Amino acid sequence: MIISFLNQKGGVGKTTLSIHIAAQLSLSGHKVLLIDSDPQGSGLDWAATREKDPIFTTISIDKPIIHKEINSLKKGRDYILIDGPPRVYDVARSAIAASDLVCIPVQPSPYDVWAAKEIVDLIKEVSVPLSEFKKISSTFIINRKIHNTAIGRDVVEALKPYETPALDTHICQRISYADSASAGSTVMEDNKDQHAIEEIKKLTKEILKKFDRS
Ligand SMILES: Nc1ncnc2c1ncn2[C@@H]1O[C@H](COP(=O)(O)OP(=O)(O)O)[C@@H](O)[C@H]1O
Ligand SMILES: [Mg+2]
Repeated sequence: MIISFLNQKGGVGKTTLSIHIAAQLSLSGHKVLLIDSDPQGSGLDWAATREKDPIFTTISIDKPIIHKEINSLKKGRDYILIDGPPRVYDVARSAIAASDLVCIPVQPSPYDVWAAKEIVDLIKEVSVPLSEFKKISSTFIINRKIHNTAIGRDVVEALKPYETPALDTHICQRISYADSASAGSTVMEDNKDQHAIEEIKKLTKEILKKFDRS
């Protein structure tokens, strides 16, 4: 299964979520590849900073050839995750065409709700002409929710006009995500923040349950 994390807006959590879900899938026994398609290479920086052995392979493809390479990359792997670029439309298009599922991280803010239109439209533009050959699903993931606020629910309501579902599992704003990233690690491996670990496990399960047809 190919899962991409896309949003033309930067800072919404594409890299954080793709790394954590890749790690969670890998820790539960799957063979995983992470494609970093951001020319800034945050995913590669994460892998380079890491001192522990890698638990999945990270490669960089920041040219619009992901959809062409994907079949050969799929061999022997259960899941490929694509960490998307901001503002690089041809690469984002290529990532969408390669995907079974596009996850759109959004923060609970009206700016993020408005900005999401761009990626929703781009997904439509790419997936509709391909629909004869493959089904490309998409879903919002609420990231950086402030714990115990209603804003997470409000944002789900505000996203409704986009006719794209949102996952029930929301990811909260937690220092542990930034802490783990700075050491090339993940919250699961650091094993310090049980709430973060639980929400990543729940999110991964929900994605597989709702969208994994492989
Ligand atoms: N749930 C979260 N809680 C706290 N910090 C987060 C969370 N998600 C992302 N961040 C931080 O926000 C910044 C941007 O996240 P990142 O994953 O790099 O976004 P993107 O890849 O969309 O640009 C990073 O510093 C990251 O550590
Ligand atoms: Mg990023």
